[in-house]
Amino acid sequence: MRRAVRNNGFNMLKFGLHRLPPSENRRVRQGFRDVSCRLLKESADYSPQTSADFEFVVRNLRLSSGIYRRTYPGRFADLDVAVNATFVEVFGNSPIEVHDWAASDCSVSAEWAASLWHLFPAARFVASDILFHLIEVSKNEGQEAYILEPDGAAIQYIRPPFVLSLQEQIPWYYPVNSWLASKAKHRLDEIRKILNRCQWPGDENAVLHFPPWTLQQVSLIHPRARFMRASDSRFEIRQHSVFAPLPAPSNAIRTMNIFNRGYFNESKLLQGIHAVFDSLSDGGIWIVGRTTEETRPSKNRASIFQKRGPSFFLRSRLNGGAEIEDLILSNLGSASRMVPDYE
Ligand SMILES: C[S@@+](CC[C@H](N)C(=O)[O-])C[C@H]1O[C@@H](n2cnc3c(N)ncnc32)[C@H](O)[C@@H]1O
Repeated sequence: MRRAVRNNGFNMLKFGLHRLPPSENRRVRQGFRDVSCRLLKESADYSPQTSADFEFVVRNLRLSSGIYRRTYPGRFADLDVAVNATFVEVFGNSPIEVHDWAASDCSVSAEWAASLWHLFPAARFVASDILFHLIEVSKNEGQEAYILEPDGAAIQYIRPPFVLSLQEQIPWYYPVNSWLASKAKHRLDEIRKILNRCQWPGDENAVLHFPPWTLQQVSLIHPRARFMRASDSRFEIRQHSVFAPLPAPSNAIRTMNIFNRGYFNESKLLQGIHAVFDSLSDGGIWIVGRTTEETRPSKNRASIFQKRGPSFFLRSRLNGGAEIEDLILSNLGSASRMVPDYE
């Protein structure tokens, strides 16, 4: 498949991936950085193939906040074992409610829920994130399409065979791509006006018509998590911000790869720490940390806290603990001198 047209020694234009080659054809797939988000609509049903396709399309998706959606199956296999053992110690066989905040596509939430139910069959599990869908605004049966966040932040413009990022500056050596993207940006105000007029019904598959444009939601929930939500009433998916306390306290909250110093300053992190504190019942467990991709293989550095009266007690760590452990301990924390560290 031809991806770039060369002229006088440099690339004049670059095509994106707007149709998925078979997953066996890994080399062709991996060669594309610009992958159409419209392809997510093809992963509506749950199968190994649709799961692999979904994960491939979403892997480079970055939100306008600068935060990546990045997650992947099996990411927390080691963490889930340590955390589930803590739950057995702390909760015995009481009925519990567990929340996974900033869960992205909820695939790792579904994995954790499945492993937890072996030990706590009655556990209720809530996966949440600030964003679960994008909006596609298209015309001429998809010959032209914009992908936006629900608040109007622009992500992509697709005009096959082009897939253009509206978030990043397109390099000068792709003048055709730059020209098309700048034309697309000029029409963003018109597109956003249409978006603002939309009243979305409850049905997430609804299609709204504003001729010549058609609007549709593009789900960012992994096919496995969508399947679990539809088939198991113990598993729920909710929109929620990590900076807001829950309406009713829960038994456990996991916040992985969100309270990172690279994403938020200290005062915002403290707001998040207090939101978690206020969302836990006394004795509740908080798992916080980050996956360090700098090391090979990657490692989950996490801290497990327990809410005890007015403070967070540090129970244990995995791989050295969370990067904001000190911030938590110095503001709301207490720790015994010996904290077990599981590696
Ligand atoms: C890097 S992903 C982490 C996914 C998953 N927890 C993991 O570790 O694999 C970060 C997620 O945080 C979400 N996010 C960003 N700001 C948020 C907020 N204020 N409240 C809830 N989620 C937020 C993003 O939408 C994104 O899905």
